[in-house]
Amino acid sequence: MIARPLRLGVNIDHVATIRNARGGRHPDPVRAAHLAAAAGADGITAHLREDRRHISDSDIARLANEIQLPLNLEMAATEEMLAIALRHRPHAACIVPEKREERTTEGGLDVAGQQEKLKPMVGRMVGAGIRVSMFIEPDPRQLDAAKAIGAPVVELHTGAYCEHEGEARDAELARIAAAAAHAAAIGLECHAGHGLSYDTVKPIAAIPTMAELNIGHFLVGEAIFVGFEASIRHMRALMDEARK
Ligand code: PXP
Repeated sequence: MIARPLRLGVNIDHVATIRNARGGRHPDPVRAAHLAAAAGADGITAHLREDRRHISDSDIARLANEIQLPLNLEMAATEEMLAIALRHRPHAACIVPEKREERTTEGGLDVAGQQEKLKPMVGRMVGAGIRVSMFIEPDPRQLDAAKAIGAPVVELHTGAYCEHEGEARDAELARIAAAAAHAAAIGLECHAGHGLSYDTVKPIAAIPTMAELNIGHFLVGEAIFVGFEASIRHMRALMDEARK
């Protein structure tokens, strides 16, 4: 199988976390987005949480207006976030769980258990030209539910894969690979993310039907030691190596 090109979405939430630790404007996540673009990112991802613990409303407005790269807005499935998404019309929106009851036991969004709530929301966003994805566990039941409610994209949760080691990690990787193949078989674009680092990215990047990885915390952490551009460039190089 010929692997499709693999995009890197750089999540800048934790630039805002550091800014918010002191208030004020520094470090500016929009500046980080410009640097990410210069370092070879294909998109910028930002999660506007209901409690605004990192990214703020004005960050989203500035990102939507000032950056050239496609913006992927991560958001809870609430009326407030839906209104914000429809106002800014980002290139993409990824629906993520924020409350316990919205999650599966592992941590992805429980799409199968909330189809009635999610379907109209997805319809409105897709109708506004936003590419909507569902952040789910690599579970065929959740993929089928995402397809059933009209989401064109799924993002597979790599948290458990990154946390485990040895056989447990291998088992989780196999689940992710099987889910990515299932996504392709039922016509869903497949993304992945959460917790990825230099040590864990390659096996995920090597999955041929994977179209995008969204990576943030590790890149911002590594930026302390090597700079943000260098951390992104190295991640991009590892992804490209895995794809060869
Ligand atoms: N994808 C989704 C849907 C997420 O919620 C997050 C975390 O905000 C990420 C990717 C990136 O995870 P990390 O910051 O651990 O790389």
